[in-house]
Amino acid sequence: MKSLEEKILQDGKVFPGGVLKVGSFLNHQIDVPFMIEIGKEFYRLFKDEQITKVLTIETSGIAIAVVCAEQFHVPVVFAKKHQTKNLTNDCYVAHIHSYTHGNDYEARVEKQFLNEHDRVLVIDDFLANGAALEGLMEIIRQSGAHLAGCGIAIEKVFQEGGKRIREKGVRVESLAMISEMTDDGKITFVEQDA
Ligand code: G4P
Repeated sequence: MKSLEEKILQDGKVFPGGVLKVGSFLNHQIDVPFMIEIGKEFYRLFKDEQITKVLTIETSGIAIAVVCAEQFHVPVVFAKKHQTKNLTNDCYVAHIHSYTHGNDYEARVEKQFLNEHDRVLVIDDFLANGAALEGLMEIIRQSGAHLAGCGIAIEKVFQEGGKRIREKGVRVESLAMISEMTDDGKITFVEQDA
């Protein structure tokens, strides 16, 4: 998605260690009209998949998932990272080890929100090492739902997550694919069809 690549080049900031900050439009402050364009692009890519639910994980995935689900006219379900009083014990649970943050956590979705009749589109803002996405895939597996595919705003191709998940036969569509980021701020994208 050319407009996303241009926005990353214009407003993104590269931090040491291969971290890209896009908080000015994607995951802290949110550029709503631009976000809606992202939602439309995911709809264009997955419109033939008879999607019944969009699934993401808190926090940053939620905004993208919402605009995307609006296009499909289906609900969003987001996995919660903390056991709270608002959550029943009747949950699908995935254990996730984040390489980026160096911590372990559990992602939970109440069983009432996902079942074997669902066709699920997984949405997230970033795909790096892929731990979060694999956690969501584990939740879908437990529910018996069909995983129709994954829609990612920004994939860091120099990390292994996307490759590993595609090798499992999962359709992963990333709108901007970064092949390289240097500490002096240069960002290179994988060439994609317009
Ligand atoms: P992991 O295996 O290292 O955990 O990688 P994963 O792809 O699951 O990404 C882990 C978390 O780090 C995700 O957020 C993801 O959005 C974020 N992330 C990874 N690379 C970058 C980056 O270059 N820039 C930014 N801004 N975020 C990145 P999360 O743990 O789910 O937290 P949240 O931000 O959604 O709350």
